[in-house]
Amino acid sequence: MASLTIRKLDDAIKAELRLRAARNGRSVEDEVRVILREASQQGAQHPVEAGSEQPHRQTSAPRVHGQPGTELPRVTLIIAGGIAAYKALDLIRRLKERGLFVRCVMTHAAQQFVTPLTASALASERCYTDLFDAASEFDAGHIRLARDCELIVVAPATADLMAKMAQGHADDLATAILLATNRPILLAPAMNPLMWNNAATRRNVAQLLRDGVTLIGPAAGEMAEANEAGVGRMSEPTEIADAALRMLRPPRPRPLAGKRLLITAGPTHEPIDPVRYIANRSSGKQGFAIAAAAQAAGADVTLICGPVELADPAGVTVKHVESAREMLRQVEAALPADVAIFTAAVADWRVKHAGSQKLKKSAGGLPQLELIENPDILATISRLPLRRPALVIGFAAETEHLIENAKIKLTHKRCDWIVANDVSPATGVMGGDRNTIHLISKDDSDTSGDGFRVESWPVMSKDDVAVALVDRIAAAAKDQTS
Ligand code: C5P
Repeated sequence: MASLTIRKLDDAIKAELRLRAARNGRSVEDEVRVILREASQQGAQHPVEAGSEQPHRQTSAPRVHGQPGTELPRVTLIIAGGIAAYKALDLIRRLKERGLFVRCVMTHAAQQFVTPLTASALASERCYTDLFDAASEFDAGHIRLARDCELIVVAPATADLMAKMAQGHADDLATAILLATNRPILLAPAMNPLMWNNAATRRNVAQLLRDGVTLIGPAAGEMAEANEAGVGRMSEPTEIADAALRMLRPPRPRPLAGKRLLITAGPTHEPIDPVRYIANRSSGKQGFAIAAAAQAAGADVTLICGPVELADPAGVTVKHVESAREMLRQVEAALPADVAIFTAAVADWRVKHAGSQKLKKSAGGLPQLELIENPDILATISRLPLRRPALVIGFAAETEHLIENAKIKLTHKRCDWIVANDVSPATGVMGGDRNTIHLISKDDSDTSGDGFRVESWPVMSKDDVAVALVDRIAAAAKDQTS
């Protein structure tokens, strides 16, 4: 692979590159790599690794792409000079195992215990050691290292480094990064118990906690020094990596925690005989997406679904049924619920006398199939005098007069909201991944109109519709309780 010397480039190009790099928080060298990679991806549609004079270095783009569309959260790991520095090498692996991109910085003292080469090899990324790096074309390297990440981990955090942090020193790369950052900092202290208990360290730790840093450890145990034990051991790499992950991915809000949701989905199959049935083209995707979104929002979800080709959503209680009558039985068994959402495309009719044996062609002519109406599950649950969920939501799949038919359905079935969607074949909604919906509800304040509120949402993926609908349900549930 040919190498490129940036210094030899035209001045105007160099100036442009520096500006671009500064804007993106990268070194000029990294910016060139990103440009080359983007160009190669656009051209040949085959990602090509940009050449590097450092064999282990991968891209240093602010977002690191593994598979297209995936982004790894980035951690700057500062390794300070203590015997526990050897454990920081294992920490690099533990952080990477958790799907994090790791870039290491080593103090001069750390290099007495472990080498930058080892850290580079484990991180697959250059290890930084100097505040003034002659190899860098862009002189704000410490600012980039301080900000081009989502979290800074210091392990081991020595008494000396913590003292410098507490005082705001910036006389080497590690302290300059720690002073220049606006990212969260996780410290894993490691030192002799006497140093940890020293009044100066106590003061520094208290100051750092006031400044907003997070501490993990130190733990109690044997020290490296013979016959010494006490509090001062660095926490184990897996514990530090888990703490880093918690700081990067704080628990998501769970607005539906404590709520029970019941959802129907998919088609129903109405038997004609043991091998034949009446069915429809519903894929169940929208109902499954709502179940997953509600579960992620903290709800206790029961999903009752007809025959579909989808994997059960994680964390959801799933009841598989065939016919409308089975679906109704399972819905009733799942009550009480706070919210019920009926996305299933329930067959309106079933065969009155389904054959117990396979129907045979006979000289007597065509078999006569007498149809009778199936129970309307939505209407049944909406009319329950005692166990009616507080919010009942129906779906209306229509091929014409969408809004008008949906309003009529809302009134007749006595549900609270109707999600109306056009399922004409041209829309690709049935079985597809996108949906265009109108959320219809009663609006008692609308005295001049027809008493309905209609909200038309833009075309969205079924997953996005699910998340947006769950947000609306959470807002309605909050209004009810407040
Ligand atoms: O099929 P229809 O357009 O009437 O469906 C409207 C709503 O009623 C949907 O929410 C559907 O799940 C529900 N429904 C039902 N039981 C039926 C028919 C429809 O729960 N037998």
